[in-house]
Amino acid sequence: MTQPSQIKNQLFKTATTATIARFARITGTGSYLPPNRVTNADLVSQLAATGIETSDDWIVERTGIRARHFSAQGVLTSELAVAAAQKAMQAAGLLASDIDLIIVATSTPDMVFPSTACIVQNKLGIAGCAAFDIQAVCTGFVYALSVANAMIQSGAANRAIVIGAETFSRILDFKDRTTCVLFGDGAGAVVLEASATPGILATDLHADGKHVGILCVPGNVGGGAVEGSAFLHMDGQAVFKLAVGVLADTARTTLAKAGKTETDIDWLIPHQANIRIMTSTAKKLKLDMDKVVVTVDQHGNTSAASIPLALDTAVRSGQVKQGQTLMLEAVGGGFTWGSALVQY
Ligand code: UT7
Repeated sequence: MTQPSQIKNQLFKTATTATIARFARITGTGSYLPPNRVTNADLVSQLAATGIETSDDWIVERTGIRARHFSAQGVLTSELAVAAAQKAMQAAGLLASDIDLIIVATSTPDMVFPSTACIVQNKLGIAGCAAFDIQAVCTGFVYALSVANAMIQSGAANRAIVIGAETFSRILDFKDRTTCVLFGDGAGAVVLEASATPGILATDLHADGKHVGILCVPGNVGGGAVEGSAFLHMDGQAVFKLAVGVLADTARTTLAKAGKTETDIDWLIPHQANIRIMTSTAKKLKLDMDKVVVTVDQHGNTSAASIPLALDTAVRSGQVKQGQTLMLEAVGGGFTWGSALVQY
């Protein structure tokens, strides 16, 4: 039997494709952090017990991070993703059965396959709609938003849930102080709906595969074991240099595509990796830091989850308001980078 929401979808599709331009708008946001909050002081003492030396001063000064959340052992990315998705759907006033596209951006999937998106779909109690993962590491959410936007604009979907979710604690080598103090776990999600009013104004995506080795988990499964390393490896300085080089450029490209300028940005919502990268990008875009959403201090680097987590935090705290113009931008392993301009 045809459900009322299916009839509504069909009517909307017919009306919008026939008569008016079709856009994708964010109609709900949600996020989830695992309850175990680990401060720098907690981490310093845990690492000291295994002979690894670091300090709150070093972590704060070099990164801006003060705390992060770690999932309990056995908690997988899909659980965090589902919790964030449910909050986003609640904010949008939708039921899981209204969703016709699920995209999960993650580098820490539950399994080699199937996709975490399929696992999320099942946990949401729905079936039939398209569901797939996007792998662009820390740029994953911007990639996923861009793909969902294109699918909605083309009429391939009407109501998407786009999730960034990670359990990076599983791939951290706690003997490597240059990486283990930087990352955390979490998930953020947005509901994206077809609309006659512009929402996602423009996007810009890039990758340069010659930098694969500077940020990677260089392992695979084969013969029933992990071949290579299952831990995150990063040349922090190389990533830092590339990041500060490309972020302002991609933001300017996206602004130009949308016919806007830096002065139109109400909020810069960057990937939350390092406060120094965010400050440098804001400066290049001539934005005061009071226009930058900063959550890296409380979340650490949650990779693909960091932007939707920051967005939801800013929406729920009342910082981000309806109608405001948001610049989302990220860099990550691959090397990947990109941005999206959003009218919220
Ligand atoms: O999410 C994807 C994008 N990722 C990023 O954007 C990360 C980009 N990179 C960065 O954010 C920074 O490069 C880091 C935060 C990773 C490192 O900061 P840095 O200012 O580039 O430090 P560094 O690697 O140059 O290391 C400086 C010193 C070294 O000691 P020496 O050689 O000067 O004696 C390190 O051994 O700091 C030492 N160090 C530490 N000391 C205390 C490295 N890690 C630690 C630590 N605690 N945890």
